[in-house]
Amino acid sequence: MSFSPWRLSVAPMLDWTDRHCRVFHRLLTRHARLYTEMVTTGALLHGDQARHLDFDAVEHPVALQLGGSEPGDLAACARLAERWGYDEVNLNCGCPSPRVQRGAFGACLMGEAALVADGVRAMRDATGLPVTVKHRIGIDRIERYDFVRDFVGTVAEAGCTVFIVHARNAWLDGLSPKDNREIPPLRYEVVHRLKSDFPQLTVVLNGGVKDDTTVAAQLERVDGVMVGRHAYHEPWALSTWDEQFFGAPPQGLTREGVEDAWVAYLQLRWNEGQPWAPAARHALGLWNGTAGSRRWRQVWSDHRLKTESPRSVQAMATAARLGVAAAAVA
Ligand SMILES: Cc1cc2nc3c(=O)[nH]c(=O)nc-3n(C[C@H](O)[C@H](O)[C@H](O)COP(=O)(O)O)c2cc1C
Repeated sequence: MSFSPWRLSVAPMLDWTDRHCRVFHRLLTRHARLYTEMVTTGALLHGDQARHLDFDAVEHPVALQLGGSEPGDLAACARLAERWGYDEVNLNCGCPSPRVQRGAFGACLMGEAALVADGVRAMRDATGLPVTVKHRIGIDRIERYDFVRDFVGTVAEAGCTVFIVHARNAWLDGLSPKDNREIPPLRYEVVHRLKSDFPQLTVVLNGGVKDDTTVAAQLERVDGVMVGRHAYHEPWALSTWDEQFFGAPPQGLTREGVEDAWVAYLQLRWNEGQPWAPAARHALGLWNGTAGSRRWRQVWSDHRLKTESPRSVQAMATAARLGVAAAAVA
């Protein structure tokens, strides 16, 4: 059976879904689509491209998310995405941060559908990769359905066929980015309406999804679901996605097995002189909900251990989790 490539994905999250996090998530699901953190066109065109773009081959399918609004810059970055081997270029039209607003991109682009359409056209001319858009259902107090419908209609005319919809407004004035992910109410019905008005488009629902029952229920209404914070904080939830949502045979994953593979990755990097702590933080939730998880997590977050190798920290964390030799760790 074939599924939409956008059926289930982990959201782009700045400071969180870096390449290490994505490798970790890939140990838990082979099929879910992974997104990079947002990278601005300015950072890519004038900064260290390899640092922003390099990724591990195991991460596929992986999408590069861009922040920007100037069509020529977006096209140049889409070309880079293709050269680096990404599977998709996604344009951020949903980020409400003041820094992003000053750059006139992110969520404020929802008020500039024609400019987004130009950007999409430029990117599609520049690359054969799918060009997708992630957006909100409105900005500020605009709650009229026709606002988001016209945005999607205009951008779709430029050839975008995949829309990832964070199902709440972005209030651009007065709310922090964090509050903007919590306070404006979720309205899934708007996303469902978009799907019924644009049945030919791939419509992905995002926002507040915290369990597989909701994923399954939403997949009855839309083409895909994107999960952000829940996937990050409760990574073990990803371990059954392939089986449940992609028809894959049971994977027999265990937390121990995933941890071993993850530590092997950290150890390889460590052997090349890279610190493990900035990567290890992404896995702190792996044992959540099991006895000893807090102690395990404490060991991995203990800065005094950062000169130890990942394998030794793992030994200490496991001992702490199992409650043996807890004194030696203290
Ligand atoms: C720490 C953090 C960073 C985020 N960074 C981005 C980003 O770079 N680009 C983006 O489109 N959305 C970003 N988001 C929003 C998420 O992609 C997602 O739309 C939002 O968290 C709602 O989904 P959720 O309720 O499943 O977390 C971020 C969210 C968080 C929590």
